[in-house]
Amino acid sequence: MHSFKDFVTAFGEHFSRKHFPESPVNLYAPGDYFLSWGGKRIRPVMCLMGNELFDEVHPDSWEVATAVELFHNFTLIHDDIMDEATLRRGMETVHVKYGLNTALLSGDVMMIRAYEYLSKIQPQYLHRILTLFNTTAREVCEGQQLDIDFEQQDNVSLDHYIHMISLKTSVLLAASLEMGAILGGASDGNCRHLYAFGKNLGIAFQVQDDYLDAFGDPEKFGKAVGGDIRQNKKTFLLLHALEVATPAQKETLLRLMQDNPADKVEQVLAIFKACNIDAWARDLKDKYLQTALGHLDAIAVREVRKEPLRELAEFLIQRAY
Ligand code: IPE
Ligand code: IPE
Ligand code: MG
Ligand code: MG
Ligand code: MG
Repeated sequence: MHSFKDFVTAFGEHFSRKHFPESPVNLYAPGDYFLSWGGKRIRPVMCLMGNELFDEVHPDSWEVATAVELFHNFTLIHDDIMDEATLRRGMETVHVKYGLNTALLSGDVMMIRAYEYLSKIQPQYLHRILTLFNTTAREVCEGQQLDIDFEQQDNVSLDHYIHMISLKTSVLLAASLEMGAILGGASDGNCRHLYAFGKNLGIAFQVQDDYLDAFGDPEKFGKAVGGDIRQNKKTFLLLHALEVATPAQKETLLRLMQDNPADKVEQVLAIFKACNIDAWARDLKDKYLQTALGHLDAIAVREVRKEPLRELAEFLIQRAY
């Protein structure tokens, strides 16, 4: 059995090889640049853990894990274009450094590389894993579109938000676990509970991401703090504030979202704090964490095998980056 940390290290070594040819350099250098700055490698590690929950790590898990990490990085390159983000992992985003067209293409080619790794797995697993991968990839696009649509909408509810973040973020975490479980020979029932564990944990993970986007330590976070506020993202912070704010605070919030003044981020953060957002964030994360852990409990394997997943869950919702 591997701990969460063991798997992060092992995958880091496995993934550190070259994924792209040398030329044309303007297409592939941005991908190398982006991948070299790392990331937490959560999704590939979840794939490996999902596998090891049931059996020894199957060689195909490394291919699926690599595919998942490349796919994730592709979504980040395009996400940073959509979100007009200038900083990620403490470095300039790809479109800022290399231009929009190159960022689009280097993202596209990274996604295609993901499918090349996926296509290497044994034929007996390929259909089932490819189907899950494709469904998930389509759902991520759906979630990303809703995220953009919500920027312009003023009637977004907390349920809408949960639905949107499930699609853009949670399903990839859930599917990473399940693809590993499939390679580990898990039963359908165990696969379903593991997927539900990942989906609920993924919601708590995105809640933490949204919290850090507003209140993270810029040194550790690696992204430009306040980006979601600048873009009028309908995060739970904004939705909760609009719900509990005084009429005056609510009017200020709506005006700030309209007018985009230079001090918008500071002003919105002050209202968030006044609305007791910390406690609300804790409750929201805890609610989804408890549901996730309920599904982990329901998986029919020995409890010691679940330890790495509990460790992962703890890290994901407490993380500072
Ligand atoms: C960022 O994912 C995008 C979200 C879904 C919140 P991560 O926080 O896993 O990004 P890296 O790969 O560790 O940088
Ligand atoms: C991104 O959500 C989800 C995907 C990339 C699919 P965010 O836009 O919140 O992610 P960050 O904060 O830029 O990493
Ligand atoms: Mg973003
Ligand atoms: Mg986004
Ligand atoms: Mg974010």
